[in-house]
Amino acid sequence: MVHHHRYIQLRKVVTVAYVDEEDACVNMSACNKRSKPKLLFFLLFCTLLSSCLLLAPNVLPFPTSPLSLLYPSGGAEETLSDSKSSPCSSVLNGTICCDRSSIRSDVCIMKGDIRTHSSSFSVFLYNSINSGAGEQKVQQEKIRPYTRKWEPSTMATIDELTLIAKKPNSSVTGDQHKCDVYHDVPAVFFSTGGYTGNVYHEFNDGLIPLYITSQKYNKKVVFVILEYHDWWITKYTNILKHLTDFEPIDYNGDKRTHCFSEAIVGLKIHDELTVDSSLTEGGKTIKDFRDILDKGYRPRIQGLILEEEHEKSQLHNPIKPIRQQHGKPKLVIISRNGSRAIMNENLLVNMASKIGFSVTVVKPQRTSELAKIYRELNSSDVMVGVHGAAMTHFLFMKPGSVFIQVVPLGTNWAAETYYGEPAKKLGLRYIGYEILPRESSLYEEYESNDPVLRDPNSVNDRGWEFTKKIYLDRQKVRLNLVRFRKRLVRSYIYTMRKRNENNMVRSQ
Ligand SMILES: *[C@@H]1O[C@H](CO)[C@@H](O)[C@H](O)[C@H]1NC(C)=O
Ligand SMILES: *[C@@H]1O[C@H](CO)[C@@H](O)[C@H](O)[C@H]1NC(C)=O
Ligand SMILES: *[C@@H]1O[C@H](CO)[C@@H](O)[C@H](O)[C@H]1NC(C)=O
Ligand SMILES: *[C@@H]1O[C@H](CO)[C@@H](O)[C@H](O)[C@H]1NC(C)=O
Repeated sequence: MVHHHRYIQLRKVVTVAYVDEEDACVNMSACNKRSKPKLLFFLLFCTLLSSCLLLAPNVLPFPTSPLSLLYPSGGAEETLSDSKSSPCSSVLNGTICCDRSSIRSDVCIMKGDIRTHSSSFSVFLYNSINSGAGEQKVQQEKIRPYTRKWEPSTMATIDELTLIAKKPNSSVTGDQHKCDVYHDVPAVFFSTGGYTGNVYHEFNDGLIPLYITSQKYNKKVVFVILEYHDWWITKYTNILKHLTDFEPIDYNGDKRTHCFSEAIVGLKIHDELTVDSSLTEGGKTIKDFRDILDKGYRPRIQGLILEEEHEKSQLHNPIKPIRQQHGKPKLVIISRNGSRAIMNENLLVNMASKIGFSVTVVKPQRTSELAKIYRELNSSDVMVGVHGAAMTHFLFMKPGSVFIQVVPLGTNWAAETYYGEPAKKLGLRYIGYEILPRESSLYEEYESNDPVLRDPNSVNDRGWEFTKKIYLDRQKVRLNLVRFRKRLVRSYIYTMRKRNENNMVRSQ
């Protein structure tokens, strides 16, 4: 009974949409496109269901799938290298296979003579097998290549591609087979529309799925981007360079016919901000994705260090060693102002310094250069911040370091799902600091027995507008420093112990 009751409760949470920062928009046109607040609908059963889906293929065979009717197995080109759970693990030349089994995204694979036709939002696949008389169109699939399939309102803003397998018209020669650009590597088609403009979404919906989908090609892959934005290319060029050797193609803007022999349309996605090694070719994990960030940002960071050294030498200052191995442990506070700000942040900084940390306050802005934020976090031992999209930067922390997320009232589930759990998968030591009612600015506005303070779940159950209006847009945090101090001291001791262990290993 208890279990049942809880399940109902969880199911209700499911319908709660989740908001994210307005301030994360990099480019105003991307932000203005939707007048609605940035909803981040997330279905709880999605996590439950997706774990079921992972298990399902081992339990249930796929004989009822329409795919198995279209593509009888046993094709000569069957490959065993792809993930077992994918119904499209083997695609015959001249065919399109769409895997629509995931609740998060559809992915279609085409093999053969592939040609883009951007003015009709189509990709053709000319099938010469059995060519001759008969109908022209053999197969047609529609797909919106974005990873938030369970949010119809978001998906409605994404361009839809039509994939058409057809027989070449034998009475026409030459022209219909015109290629403007031949590519001898596969294409990956995806959209940078939707919620692109918010750092959480850029990593969760875009970059990590792009890594999952394309890493097996070892950079021998061309990205074909719908709703292409120059600023997105500029912002992520350091990372893109390590995913592809080729210039990305602006699908809508480039009217030439691009020809490929293999195309993946849509991105695979595993879970929130993570890479599931059991579903990835080569057993890749989120740490491998992080290695790409490290490689990508390294040249820029080294450039910054050289500049700083140069400036120092201009001032005739003696050059100090850049990073002292045995300096104080470093703590970074990811700071917000406005809603979900820490009202006593200065006192927090003082306290952390007294404990023995060297403290840096970072305020990510729309225009912040990610390499600079990476540099701060990659060189730090502890990151502290209040739940919000900027927590996505936990990806920049080294595995083994500490991430303390301050969890305002009413945001427990979201904080754990979007950041806490993924951080643990990266190998961070995660501490979720759930504030007490007295630590919330809402304590001054509501009676102490009001459900807003006493039972946030009941407020969240009333609907998304309430979560947003009460807990996300209007809540600030005044940390109980006595209580919070314990976490910092624990983190300090943990960091010092880890350093000593490393030193002992080194001196052996
Ligand atoms: C696949 O089909 C295309 C045209 O339909 C053909 O040119 C190509 O050689 C085929 N590739 C393989 C590996 O059979
Ligand atoms: C093939 O091309 C010819 C000449 O353009 C055209 O008349 C005919 O309708 C086409 N056939 C099909 C099936 O599209
Ligand atoms: C990140 O930190 C590690 C360990 O201190 C270091 O080896 C690496 O070079 C750093 N990465 C960058 C890009 O500076
Ligand atoms: C945040 O701080 C900056 C500069 O300190 C200020 O310009 C901005 O208006 C503040 N934003 C909010 C929401 O208070």
